[in-house]
Amino acid sequence: MTIEEFQKTILQGIPSELPASKPYDPEINHAPKRKDILTKEEKKLALKNALRYFEKKHHDVLAKEFLHELESFGRIYMYRFRPDYKINSRSIDGFPAKSKQTAAIMLMLSNNLDNAVAQHPHELITYGGNGAVFQNWAQYLITMKYLAEMTEEQTLVLYSGHPMGVFPSHKDAPRVVVTNGMMIPNYSKPDDWERFNALGVTQYGQMTAGSFMYIGPQGIVHGTTITVLNAGRKISKSGEGLEGKLFVTSGLGGMSGAQPKAANIAGVVSITAEVNPKAAYKRHEQGWVDELMTDVNKAIDKALECCKNKETRSIAYLGNIVELWENLEKRNIDVHLGSDQTSLHNPWAGGYYPVGLSYEESNIMIAEDPEKFKKHVQESLRRQVTAINKLTAKGMYFFDYGNAFLLESSRAGADIMKADGKFKYPSYVQDIMGPMCFDYGFGPFRWVCTSSDPKDLDLTDKIAMDVLEEIAKTAPPEITQQMKDNIRWISEAKKNKLVVGSQARILYADCEGRTKIAAAFNKAVKDGKLSSPVVLGRDHHDVSGTDSPFRETSNIYDGSQFTADMAIQNVIGDSFRGATWVSIHNGGGVGWGEVINGGFGMVLDGSADAERRLKMMLHWDVNNGIARRSWARNNEAIFAIKREMERTPGLKVTLPNIADDKIIDKLF
Ligand SMILES: NC(=O)c1ccc[n+]([C@@H]2O[C@H](COP(=O)([O-])OP(=O)(O)OC[C@H]3O[C@@H](n4cnc5c(N)ncnc54)[C@H](O)[C@@H]3O)[C@@H](O)[C@H]2O)c1
Repeated sequence: MTIEEFQKTILQGIPSELPASKPYDPEINHAPKRKDILTKEEKKLALKNALRYFEKKHHDVLAKEFLHELESFGRIYMYRFRPDYKINSRSIDGFPAKSKQTAAIMLMLSNNLDNAVAQHPHELITYGGNGAVFQNWAQYLITMKYLAEMTEEQTLVLYSGHPMGVFPSHKDAPRVVVTNGMMIPNYSKPDDWERFNALGVTQYGQMTAGSFMYIGPQGIVHGTTITVLNAGRKISKSGEGLEGKLFVTSGLGGMSGAQPKAANIAGVVSITAEVNPKAAYKRHEQGWVDELMTDVNKAIDKALECCKNKETRSIAYLGNIVELWENLEKRNIDVHLGSDQTSLHNPWAGGYYPVGLSYEESNIMIAEDPEKFKKHVQESLRRQVTAINKLTAKGMYFFDYGNAFLLESSRAGADIMKADGKFKYPSYVQDIMGPMCFDYGFGPFRWVCTSSDPKDLDLTDKIAMDVLEEIAKTAPPEITQQMKDNIRWISEAKKNKLVVGSQARILYADCEGRTKIAAAFNKAVKDGKLSSPVVLGRDHHDVSGTDSPFRETSNIYDGSQFTADMAIQNVIGDSFRGATWVSIHNGGGVGWGEVINGGFGMVLDGSADAERRLKMMLHWDVNNGIARRSWARNNEAIFAIKREMERTPGLKVTLPNIADDKIIDKLF
């Protein structure tokens, strides 16, 4: 298809004549069949809801087809309307648009649906099994048309993928406001997602799926590298590295697929179990894991040989993680680091595959006998925890990696609680990411070069490294290690071939780093050194964007970890300080009803407006969270916010007075 035809097709939106129906492509990784949860009356409602997008003359044909989709897949995806053109992050100039801002948003959302990037592209799922960009193809088509036609005096409103419309606004307002899965709190149980998603009125946006900010597994390689490196520092004697040590985990999916690569960068030998052959082969072909083995004991033998030779190597075991843990335990192997990254935020609908059932058997049982499937999952989790407990008793450091492993294992009755009612193992945020990064404002800052030209990405890498090296010269000792790790990361980023999809980069930076890097990019666009605008963004998994008591805010101990004021304040604050788009989601990472998280996108087009906006918005976007973490009495955050107040006139944050425990204790 020529570029002109592509642009014309976008401007057409939903075609007036029905496109030919599309055969189900078995080569593509499809979403599992969802639970058949709707009553007969609700199915009628789901059909009426779906038909709202189409002219009446098509209703007869489409009603039958959509009922077939609902009954076969548990959802109405409107497969027939999936466009014939390749969806990807082509150069920004290829998108039909009246504004660079809206063209950049089209590029970003297209990247989330790219066959090479998305987990289940035909079901519009980017990662995490259910992280949706849109609920159906009609929403995609209408949204692209709106984005192509709107101006910088308008704002597009998306309700869980549904384009509610384009409303008049002003040039400093966000071009798009996204909400995903926002529910009346009482309707936020996992089955509520199944029901209301099947009805076509809500979706699970995960974090960067429904906010158009996914950059492939690179997004998490960096966070995982930091986590594994620092987990290694916890178990190593001073100065000792991770050479010859063994890390065991699971999952080679959207985000979890980053683990073997991060393990290699951190210099540890790793085995990652994955049950889905498509996911395992995809990561192997992409070079994200060195070796793929189907025999559990051969995989263990190979890892032991690498440990002995101090040869950093990542091994994928195509099979169930429980089999791997049980065999490691049976053979009395020394495992140094352990984690899990199956999709336990979504345990009953394909996020976790129980041991004892084949991958195919599980997928059938999910749809046909969900109650029985749930029992299998819980039994499997109990077995997994038993094996992990035996290995940690021998010295392994195990951490929850933000996938609700501890939470779901406890719900399954696994032996995972201590006598005081707390989990036996830390979440990586409690031990590592919280005190070392988030409390100081370090978080997953990222950018995308909208020219889609690797040369632009190279230049941004250099700019970012120069800025960080300059800041590091005067950085206080409290953040020296973080600065060093990030400078090393960015200097090796290209060599590690992290780009899948858009020309994107991530690094962990604090407020000063993010602002200075962004300003330098904006200047490089203005000076013509970068050939087109840069999109700034971040993972929602950050300092301020996410309230999640079992992950991002698990190191908040004043009781407020169960509140969501920070995430809501954050997105409101970002929206009036100049974000190009903002998003707020229920669910993401640890599950529907368990987290509220938000993010932003900001287009740096080299203008003075962009410079003004980036300074105002990034300052809030980082310091909102530091202020809250400081009020929760986190020492690192108290240090960071005091430092920020010294250099920012106009910033006045309420600081906590720390009560002496003795005064309180003597009253009881
Ligand atoms: N810590 C973080 O920063 C972070 C970031 C993103 C996602 N997450 C969480 O991590 C989890 C994984 O995310 P993802 O995007 O990779 O999801 P995903 O669904 O794409 O991948 C999970 C993989 O685990 C595999 N799997 C499931 N059960 C298994 C079993 N018993 N044994 C072996 N393999 C099994 C699945 O086949 C799948 O490929 C999610 O819960 C997500 O929310 C954490």
